Amino acid sequence: MTVVTTIPQMRALTRAWRQAGETIALVPTMGALHAGHLALVEAASRECDRVVVSIFVNPTQFGPNEDFTRYPRDLDGDLRALTGLGVDAVLAPSADGMYGPAFQTSVELAHLPKHLCGLTRTNHFGGVALVVAKLFNIVQPDAAVFGMKDYQQVRVIEQMVADLDQDVRIVRHPTLREPDGLAMSSRNRYLSPADRAVAPTLYATLRAIAEAVAGGANDAARLVSEGRARLETAGFVPDYLAVCDPDTLDDVVTVAGPVLVAVAARLGATRLIDNLVAVPGVAPGPAHPAH
Ligand code: PAF
Repeated sequence: MTVVTTIPQMRALTRAWRQAGETIALVPTMGALHAGHLALVEAASRECDRVVVSIFVNPTQFGPNEDFTRYPRDLDGDLRALTGLGVDAVLAPSADGMYGPAFQTSVELAHLPKHLCGLTRTNHFGGVALVVAKLFNIVQPDAAVFGMKDYQQVRVIEQMVADLDQDVRIVRHPTLREPDGLAMSSRNRYLSPADRAVAPTLYATLRAIAEAVAGGANDAARLVSEGRARLETAGFVPDYLAVCDPDTLDDVVTVAGPVLVAVAARLGATRLIDNLVAVPGVAPGPAHPAH
């Protein structure tokens, strides 16, 4: 596993692989790797001959009052976690290497970022699209693997790839969950023991909505208000709970087909997100699936 910190080093490696006829999969991360990331890496190694993992806490996707400075950083621990997983290269660039002093380009999508997390994190998806576009240009992967906990992020990236004719296949990977159902996240480590005990209610609430949809409930506003009440009773401060179109993320009024049920809520100082797709007439899968 080669650790590269500059863009020219990365390009030299990937150029040699491509010349040898090998395919490349990229797993973009911000580090603080957990089992969910490692599952993405394993999926990547099934997709292509070579696997690159990028580790970069991207400043452009954090708002001024967000957790950029306290976001967990542990490159040595991340490299240990990746050892033995068949990773060929880790790209760990500096912020200066990615964004020089004259940097001035943006990548903006008109509609998808105006929903869900984008309502409060107004610059977030522009920052994500920008850094992912840069990573795609640097690595030129055949495939890139993303976890579905960040559903809106995946939709933004899929749309960007389509709009800009980027030659990369986006692989959706299911959310990995703790045994009690909590979606794995680098931010879970912020939770106090008391908040950690409450946190699984987030997914339980989504599942309750999916069960109601399976049983024929179709009034989205009612599903949302009952879900919000359950979250508030448990101690969450919901940022949003939405029942929306899985492709456009537009709100749905009456559920008549598969819908994305997505949530962001604060527990103490920690903001958690989760989602699932609810389908009329189809009960959600096992209570705590491996993903
Ligand atoms: O999901 C993340 O960790 C980040 O948003 C990503 C895709 C690596 C871009 O910085």
